[in-house]
Amino acid sequence: MIIAIDGPAGSGKSTTARAVAGRLGYVHLDTGATYRAVALAFLRDGIEPTKEGAERVLASVHLDVLLDETGQRILLNGEDVTEEIRTPDVTAVTSTVAALRSVREKLVDEQRRIARAFEEGKGGVVIDGRDIGTVVFPDADLKVFMIADERVRARRRFEELRESGSTATLDEVLRDIRSRDEKDMRRTVAPLRKADDALKLDTSELDIAEQVNVVVQAVKERENLSAV
Ligand code: CDP
Repeated sequence: MIIAIDGPAGSGKSTTARAVAGRLGYVHLDTGATYRAVALAFLRDGIEPTKEGAERVLASVHLDVLLDETGQRILLNGEDVTEEIRTPDVTAVTSTVAALRSVREKLVDEQRRIARAFEEGKGGVVIDGRDIGTVVFPDADLKVFMIADERVRARRRFEELRESGSTATLDEVLRDIRSRDEKDMRRTVAPLRKADDALKLDTSELDIAEQVNVVVQAVKERENLSAV
């Protein structure tokens, strides 16, 4: 069972995907972390996010996605960078790196391989990102496209960042979200968009438990249909 969850920044994808996976005994794969890890490799090597730069970075990048009791951990050339990929510097460059065709080709292959392995081990994987239902798994068993009012999304991200010690203001967070969404929707390769057959879920007025219930319910309906 492959469950694809896409949507803009702060729409609640990762939190929902993690909780849905927990409820169903499946695995959660956060593809944003793979783009963030490659973006970190550009920053560390001081390489510009261009087509030429990507050739150099991709030649020396190896990613591993592991699972432990805290959830997904991501390793860049053997080093655990799970926390470091959430810093504002990495966030700022990730959408530019993620627009590069060669980066996407490499990561989409990796994501498919990892998701299939998880699916085989646990029976199902909940995978979240921007292009999962449109490009990575266009045949997913269930596709969800999560949206929410931009102010609600900024507020959520602001609270999250504040808890991790950030001093960014709400306005700064809102600007960052707007600029990333715009880059993600406008890029030529795999832009952020709803797949025609995705379930649209507006989380502006839902809390986490409610949005998780909607997705779990939709999975159960699919399971019943495929059992007939
Ligand atoms: O958690 P948040 O929604 O803020 O971001 P994320 O899921 O960690 O993704 C960070 C960035 O990676 C996005 O803004 C996209 O530019 C890129 N991304 C992508 O292009 N395709 C994906 N499947 C996942 C992330």
